[in-house]
Amino acid sequence: MRSSSYKAVVHEFAAAIRSGAIPAGTQMPTHRALARERRIALATASRVYAELAALGLVVGEPGRGTFVRVRSGYDGLEPSRALPVPRLADLSFNQPLAPGQAGLLRQALRTMAVSGDIGALLRQHPPGGHRHDREVVATYLLGRGIDAVPHDVLLTSGTQQALDIVLRTLTRPGGVLAVDALSYPGIKLLASAHSLDLAPIPVTATGPDLDVLDHLCRARPVRAVYTIPTVHNPLGWVLEREQRDRLAVIARAHNCLIIEDGTYAFLEPSPPPPLQALAPERTCYVAGLSKNVAPGLRFGFAVLPGGHVESAIRSLRAAAWGAPGLITALATGWLLDGTVTRLEKDRREDAAARQDIARAALAGMNVTAHPTSYMVWLGLEPHQRPDHVAAVLAEEGILVSTADAFATGPYRPQALRLALATVALGELGAVLHHLRDTIEAIPP
Ligand SMILES: Cc1ncc(COP(=O)(O)O)c(C=O)c1O
Repeated sequence: MRSSSYKAVVHEFAAAIRSGAIPAGTQMPTHRALARERRIALATASRVYAELAALGLVVGEPGRGTFVRVRSGYDGLEPSRALPVPRLADLSFNQPLAPGQAGLLRQALRTMAVSGDIGALLRQHPPGGHRHDREVVATYLLGRGIDAVPHDVLLTSGTQQALDIVLRTLTRPGGVLAVDALSYPGIKLLASAHSLDLAPIPVTATGPDLDVLDHLCRARPVRAVYTIPTVHNPLGWVLEREQRDRLAVIARAHNCLIIEDGTYAFLEPSPPPPLQALAPERTCYVAGLSKNVAPGLRFGFAVLPGGHVESAIRSLRAAAWGAPGLITALATGWLLDGTVTRLEKDRREDAAARQDIARAALAGMNVTAHPTSYMVWLGLEPHQRPDHVAAVLAEEGILVSTADAFATGPYRPQALRLALATVALGELGAVLHHLRDTIEAIPP
């Protein structure tokens, strides 16, 4: 047999492991056997395994040999169990969790405990994550239309940290951040922490007013635009392709960055391309696994334009270093074995069922919602002050958010945001009927 090049052997094994032709748990030939078989030096054989280990494909177990890495081994969700009925019906925060997810976690931890490389999780990892883990996220992002090299993907402790790192790296105190007049409340906290000046863009039911954004960028030195183009929080919109193109054109014309938040994007089954794909040179894409897997996981990621990655890594070192190794191992295991994709599909179906329940319970009220999302924007009558309505509902054991929480400027509509994900599915109809009856009984 002709001697093989070291790269060719790595590629051959990597392809066979990824395709499943060499299944997880398989013991690989010893370094000596591989050297003999491929007519390569012993040191070269060791290098092959080192490279495969760096790719996260094999693991060396001292005294036992080299094994194809077992990632995780779930064979499906447990039979569904009703969530315990909460004393309070929390419609203020979306915490989507499927029955049986605790079983998935138990199984993943068990698998990890016996996979042989558990000790590696105790070692310091690079801020932003190991290359092979960043590669797993980059591959997942391809499914969202984002074609990023692993180098440009940083792993963070949730989306909120990804946003923090982006602002810390790319803005300066006093800079102007354009945001929708109603937006995710966490961006207000961050803007205040980084001494940024929020410039609200008026909103309609279908998206921000881009003419105003254009004027704003002419009038003020807007450094970045924070946007949630796909399943907006709180209004549920999905920006059309033309709106995305226009936003990219405006950002280019005024040389500002786009910060695209994809936290809820998985809920839209066929979205237009992300802004990251339309303007990759100036878009920072942030998202995570809080809403599609579990908020307690605290796993997120940021995709940065290439030239900013090194300074973002410095920012991560100054902050909380990024996603912890143990959490990354869980998250990448679930990304690789299809659990995340399956949960996302289940979530879309679950959210659609919840929207059906909401539509029936709130029929005739002023409702704005995306059909497969977990949010309802409920307009109130002119005489109904949102904070008063929220206080009355809280006395009835129903927690909601008022428009104030989402307002980034003076525009404070008379509205509530209802988060549909946390209440058990079987309870939701009754809770929403009670909410409606309570609101309608409030005297003018
Ligand atoms: C639009 C949006 N971005 C970011 C976040 C924060 O996500 P994480 O829990 O991953 O930090 C949320 C959480 O609700 C959100 O709604």
